Amino acid sequence: MASDNPSVSAEEQPSELRALSFAGRSAVVTGGARGIGRAVAHRLACLGADVAIWDIDEPAAQATAKALTTAVAATGEGGTVVARRVDITDAAAIEQGLEACCPSGLDVLVNNAGLTSIERIDQMTIETWERYLRINLTGTFLCIRAAIPYLRRRREAAIVNISSSAALVGGGGGAHYAAAKAGMDGLTRHLAQELAPTIRVNSIQPRTIDTDLFRERYAHAPEKREALVDQIPLRRIGTPDEIASVVAFLASDWASYLTGQLILVDGGRTFR
Ligand SMILES: NC(=O)c1ccc[n+]([C@@H]2O[C@H](COP(=O)([O-])OP(=O)(O)OC[C@H]3O[C@@H](n4cnc5c(N)ncnc54)[C@H](O)[C@@H]3O)[C@@H](O)[C@H]2O)c1
Repeated sequence: MASDNPSVSAEEQPSELRALSFAGRSAVVTGGARGIGRAVAHRLACLGADVAIWDIDEPAAQATAKALTTAVAATGEGGTVVARRVDITDAAAIEQGLEACCPSGLDVLVNNAGLTSIERIDQMTIETWERYLRINLTGTFLCIRAAIPYLRRRREAAIVNISSSAALVGGGGGAHYAAAKAGMDGLTRHLAQELAPTIRVNSIQPRTIDTDLFRERYAHAPEKREALVDQIPLRRIGTPDEIASVVAFLASDWASYLTGQLILVDGGRTFR
């Protein structure tokens, strides 16, 4: 919140109080070693947050933290970036990560780690179904459940869940992924009520964002990836930075009256 008294209008208070800033705040970004998570970590740190990247790929996470530390320092301001190996399906690792990264409290939790594969329902094994549900949905539940006491140490805190357009219209590789992401959005809707008024919870539903995950999905047919542009009213694939902008907004004071929302960021493709 920009002011102790939200009924004071922007006109009545100095403009710097309304600046989008995370100075003095802490953030955890899961799956932050690459792609969308990396862009989110970079953006929040540039805006002043002390960011912890959690990823199952520790070498990549450490390399990202090092690169982002240099990039943020070059701006002459901003927060810190550290990395830690945390598998979001491992409750003990999450607990240890919270205690190590934000012992005095957490302002922003970005549940971004996720994974997909191309599967048809009639050939999908129970092992595959359970694996992807565990990473994409249960992992988010475990991170949120463990983070609540840390988020509650702040007067106001925010959770941003990175879902997918697949939650709305399917796709994204298969039913396992679409079902998990729809579950994530159900969590968002429910927890916005259960965790209010201290913790706001929102989802972003990206579509066609240029990352490793997206490229791997179309690795077998890169021409299909290029053809997608014709289906996108904004006529291009999105960038991780464009998701980071929405995460920063949702996690910030600028979104102080916004909770329980699912924001589709897709260049207009889904409902064209
Ligand atoms: N790229 C897109 O077009 C797109 C579209 C819709 C939704 N999304 C969602 O955005 C999020 C980020 O996707 P991306 O495209 O940047 O993917 P990415 O594959 O580039 O990055 C995902 C990161 O998550 C990490 N990760 C995977 N499993 C993990 C685990 N168990 N614990 C901790 N970290 C783990 C990976 O190591 C990787 O660094 C995902 O949740 C994805 O479903 C992406």
